[in-house]
Amino acid sequence: MKRRILITSALPYANGSIHLGHLVEYTQTDIWARYQRLRGHDCVYVCADDAHGTPIMLRAQSEGITPEELITRMHGDHLRDFTSFGIRFDLYHSTHSPENFEISQSIYRALRVADYINVREIEQAYDPVAGIFLPDRFIRGTCPRCGAADQYGDSCEVCGATYSPTDLINPVSAVSGAVPERRNSEHYFFQLGDFSDFLRRWIHSGTLQEEVAHKLDEWFSIGLADWDISRDAPYFGIPIPDAPGKFFYVWLDALPGYMAATKHWCAAHDRNFADYWGPESTTEIYHFIGKDIIYFHGLFWPAMLKGSGHRLPTGIFAHGHLTVNGAKMSKSRGTSITAEQYLQHLNPEFLRYYIATKLNSHVEDIDLNLEDFLLKGNGDLVGKVVNLASRAAGFIHRSFAGRLAASLGNDQAFYDGLLQTQEAIGEAYAGREYGKAMRDIMVLADQVNAYVDQNAPWVLAKDSAQREALHRVVTVTLNGFRVLITLLSPVLPELSRKSLEFLQCELDWGGLTKPLLDHQIQPYTHLLQRMEKTQVDALIQTPAESPATAQATSTATPTAAENKEENPFISIDDFSRVDLRIARIIAADSVEGADKLLHLTLDIGEGTRSVFAGIKSAYDPASLVGKLTVMVANLAPRKMRFGLSEGMVLAASGPEGGPFLLSPDSGARPGMRVK
Ligand code: 2FM
Ligand code: ZN
Repeated sequence: MKRRILITSALPYANGSIHLGHLVEYTQTDIWARYQRLRGHDCVYVCADDAHGTPIMLRAQSEGITPEELITRMHGDHLRDFTSFGIRFDLYHSTHSPENFEISQSIYRALRVADYINVREIEQAYDPVAGIFLPDRFIRGTCPRCGAADQYGDSCEVCGATYSPTDLINPVSAVSGAVPERRNSEHYFFQLGDFSDFLRRWIHSGTLQEEVAHKLDEWFSIGLADWDISRDAPYFGIPIPDAPGKFFYVWLDALPGYMAATKHWCAAHDRNFADYWGPESTTEIYHFIGKDIIYFHGLFWPAMLKGSGHRLPTGIFAHGHLTVNGAKMSKSRGTSITAEQYLQHLNPEFLRYYIATKLNSHVEDIDLNLEDFLLKGNGDLVGKVVNLASRAAGFIHRSFAGRLAASLGNDQAFYDGLLQTQEAIGEAYAGREYGKAMRDIMVLADQVNAYVDQNAPWVLAKDSAQREALHRVVTVTLNGFRVLITLLSPVLPELSRKSLEFLQCELDWGGLTKPLLDHQIQPYTHLLQRMEKTQVDALIQTPAESPATAQATSTATPTAAENKEENPFISIDDFSRVDLRIARIIAADSVEGADKLLHLTLDIGEGTRSVFAGIKSAYDPASLVGKLTVMVANLAPRKMRFGLSEGMVLAASGPEGGPFLLSPDSGARPGMRVK
């Protein structure tokens, strides 16, 4: 029976780059979606950028652009990264969309009419300089327990204490540095406690993993508190109806973002939205999420849906976090690897495969051990799978003009044996036991390799009397390869696309019962290049934040929860990674075709650097020659239209004028470090 299925992954924040931690979830979901499509189900996979909230508003401000400009750019970056990793959404939308304004506001209205909303004044930290209320993460100060300086407003990274920002000693706003004031304002609350009885039952209804349900049970023992769903202007978000100056807290509109994306997709594909989210909908709806956001999906979301008369999801699947070489991803260890950085070195399908080998249906953290990653990717995919095709292809083309034999002869039973575990492998996919599926598939790969070794086609090829046997053996081998590729296709879409092109057949799960016989295949072209150790090592050696990604990532914190309300401070270590040097301008020239740029040649003591600087409006090139200035010497070289720029000179500018090139006091010499 053809099932109608809607699948979602959590919506990534629009203020940070996609990193390997994110990719665990999108890979897990994409594999599941691809498997369901492969089995012929009517399956839609939607996602979106989570585009609202204070961190996004502040980040845009600090870049001197509007939040809309920021989220448009990030949407493009995110979609590019996902696409490169083979994540195939039916729609990648945004929570900053007309559909989401409408749906979030209508859910809120329904909750208000049903009396689930109350309004009361609360006191909060306010930054009088920035003119905004401050989330806890944006307040820094001295830990009240251990006295460590420069700690977050909600917890101390040194001693682990958790507290309220009012307990901090000498608190300051991380936005402006001002001392926060206490101010009252009216907030809107969703009465989660009204849903206690319903939620208590619902979380054990089979929608959640058992371990997740148990975790949520703990919350009932302390009682479900009202949820503060409003934020005061200025806030980049969705206005609360009939509440001037109030906006929905980002999470209130993020969850309906799933519905908004579905609605947009339905409109574009002539589908009925009510078939998905309407009260009578029989569509299966599954949310894939990380363990850090269970509370939102296991309590708030079902309560919001129930309270506003909507249907509930069919399943919520939580996964654990990613560690790299056994430790939390960390910028200083160079293990906070962005999708973009990974792609500079390695084929994304190796990561998809590795993640698949590690995943099961439980909420367990998974470790990317780079040594194991190298061994598994090369050993399993290249050594056991792709090699079958490359070895067999030589014989089939040299001796049989690329045509497979008309029968498997005595080896039909061997081939049929390979399909014995196909259903179990399918069930493992469906049950998110991908590790088991990969192990079972590799057992089959071992069997095909053993078959090749036993039948030694290279020996048969030497004896013309064995021509028929040779034809049979390579035909069985290539059909075995087809089985493996079909079974692996949800994990390795690109390898399977290329392989099926080589085999000249369609992806067809059920069609494996009919082997390819008397069938013409294409000449063999390279299907998958081995990974070199140097490429894997380069993942870590790449600076955790290259200048290009520094632009795109406001925070290197790996988990979604930490990303939420980012830390706008940089540490002394972050700062010391910037190599600032005194440089002497030894030549300055106009650049043809660029009205703002000067081409500077800089002497930095240990050689010269060529830099393009946007200072032409303020300086006559000749007046610069001989001057000392300050340059960033370890900025990654950038290819510009006019040539390579190998650094950056520092200049001040503002509405009052500029740029004004920085220059050191007398006595400074080219090459000196600026600290
Ligand atoms: O934790 C996060 O990264 C959130 N942006 C996830 C939102 S999921 C859904 F609710 F929108
Ligand atoms: Zn402390």
